[in-house]
Amino acid sequence: MTLLEFDHVSKIYSVRGAGQIKALDDVSFTLESGQTIGLVGQSGSGKSTIAKILTQLEVPSSGEVRLDGAPIPRRGAGLRSYRQQLRMVFQDPFASLNPYHSIRYHVERPLRLDDVVPASETEAEVRRLLERVRLDADAVIDRRPHELSGGQRQRVAIARALASRPRLLIADEPVSMLDVSLRLGVLNLLADLQREEGLGVLYITHDLATARHFSDEIMVLNQGRVVERGPADDVILRPQDPYTQELRAASPDPEKHFAAASGSGRTETLGGSL
Ligand SMILES: Nc1ncnc2c1ncn2[C@@H]1O[C@H](COP(=O)(O)OP(=O)(O)OP(=O)(O)O)[C@@H](O)[C@H]1O
Ligand SMILES: [Mg+2]
Repeated sequence: MTLLEFDHVSKIYSVRGAGQIKALDDVSFTLESGQTIGLVGQSGSGKSTIAKILTQLEVPSSGEVRLDGAPIPRRGAGLRSYRQQLRMVFQDPFASLNPYHSIRYHVERPLRLDDVVPASETEAEVRRLLERVRLDADAVIDRRPHELSGGQRQRVAIARALASRPRLLIADEPVSMLDVSLRLGVLNLLADLQREEGLGVLYITHDLATARHFSDEIMVLNQGRVVERGPADDVILRPQDPYTQELRAASPDPEKHFAAASGSGRTETLGGSL
């Protein structure tokens, strides 16, 4: 079933003194429930603009975005429900958590705002979510973000995103600021959650190797246009579009394979290709 649909979406930014930048140029695609799409393309190709439109930081200049066939609501209960269904994991786990608040506060907030569970069950639900992202709830719940490692913080950000029981997760470079030794653990966690909860995921990345490994399909953006889309192996191993071929040639290790095991909590290490 189609969960998300971009229908001929363009986005033009007006920059004082610099004229207009066409960040998205007639972008159309669909994402099915439970599907992971890897969105790749070089810096400035428009990837984050797609995320910003989905999180309503920006509005399209033309075209329409639909969730479950309905345009993104602009206000009221419809908007609240949209925001509950679509959640974001940001690149920077340092900036996305408030340094003055405890981990409990961060995970509790969406539970309260979205009325996910009765108030008497909030504490148990916070703990369940922390365990779900494989954190030791007792050890982290009363700490503040700066007392955790980058990988632990990103897990808190994922727990917070899951709290509202969304159906679609937008992950914009979710591991690029983490130490390489932590990246695969966080990506495997996202993949496990995706499978277990049937989440749709838009995984935005520069990295072709993890895009291929963690996505069902890959979509390639070049200067705001979708130049290629298809099953992950086809796009990465047998790219048709010249730009994808260039991107592949410039990528350190697009054919890299990752150990499939996940959720074991063991430390995975990864070379410099990530
Ligand atoms: N708020 C803005 N105002 C003006 N121009 C913008 C704005 N946000 C993005 N742009 C421009 O739009 C284009 C697409 O930017 P976007 O952030 O979507 O790229 P990206 O693919 O996410 O890049 P990166 O890989 O570096 O994160 C770029 O040329 C960028 O400079
Ligand atoms: Mg970006």
